[in-house]
Amino acid sequence: MTYRLFEGKDHASIYQKYRLPPPDELKNIILQYLDNKKGQPHVLAVDLGCGTGQNSRLLAAHFKQVVGIDISECVLEEARAVPGFPNITYRKGRAEELPFSDGSVDLVTASTAAHWFDHSRFLAEASRVLKPGGCLALLGYTLTKIRFHYQNYGDRLDHIYQEVKQVLIPYTSNPVAQCDSKQEELYSAIPFPDKERIECIQVKSFITLKNLVGFIETWSMFQAYKKKDPQAANDLLLNTEKRFLDEMGVTSPDTEMEWELEYFCNLASKPK
Ligand SMILES: C[S@@+](CC[C@H](N)C(=O)[O-])C[C@H]1O[C@@H](n2cnc3c(N)ncnc32)[C@H](O)[C@@H]1O
Repeated sequence: MTYRLFEGKDHASIYQKYRLPPPDELKNIILQYLDNKKGQPHVLAVDLGCGTGQNSRLLAAHFKQVVGIDISECVLEEARAVPGFPNITYRKGRAEELPFSDGSVDLVTASTAAHWFDHSRFLAEASRVLKPGGCLALLGYTLTKIRFHYQNYGDRLDHIYQEVKQVLIPYTSNPVAQCDSKQEELYSAIPFPDKERIECIQVKSFITLKNLVGFIETWSMFQAYKKKDPQAANDLLLNTEKRFLDEMGVTSPDTEMEWELEYFCNLASKPK
């Protein structure tokens, strides 16, 4: 089954605006793994389900060439519009049918994306195109484990966030639930004996309330809710912003708070 939940132009544009690139900590883990398993040179990285290109751009400085692939033309248009990355090419395509010859790719990544793919067909394709020693890195973060800190109001902010998630549970698709399990099933199915699962990389950073609300708006379950009841979905965002403002005792949605995300990374290396 192919999921097509990231097709709208509006969704693509908020995606570009509010989705974060993976943190440097995670990028460094992946590059170090690739160095250990395959070594230099790093020629070609393929970023599957690249969306608006956040992860592809992160890889650009470390590879001769990066190819981002996604089934949605709308997100690719947004990715192509970001200037300054001449060694990235974005192509429309599916993770299950890759346009590369056997043994030609150094690194295959999928950032918060592989749970949407047909697992067995994607893993067979990734195995085919990777060079011997080449690596697979399936990364992401869980939406259940986000924690907020603003002065002394952390727990109460966490509670509001959990209530928003609760409203959206009925609209949560099976793949998103798999991402929350850190793609455990997919990791088990990786056919390489040399694999490693890093389940918990805690990363703290700052986010404005406005961007947090925008981030929630990018979720596929929020978009599913909006499709069913646009007014209620809009009210959920407005209400969330208001509740955070009230709890924090501020008036500006540009107020920054700290948030802590829990990333994971499933790594594997093709036998030499
Ligand atoms: C949650 S988004 C992640 C985007 C980006 N990698 C990021 O880190 O923000 C998932 C992306 O996977 C794409 N996608 C879903 N199924 C796919 C498939 N079978 N092949 C390629 N891309 C796919 C969607 O169109 C969407 O852009």
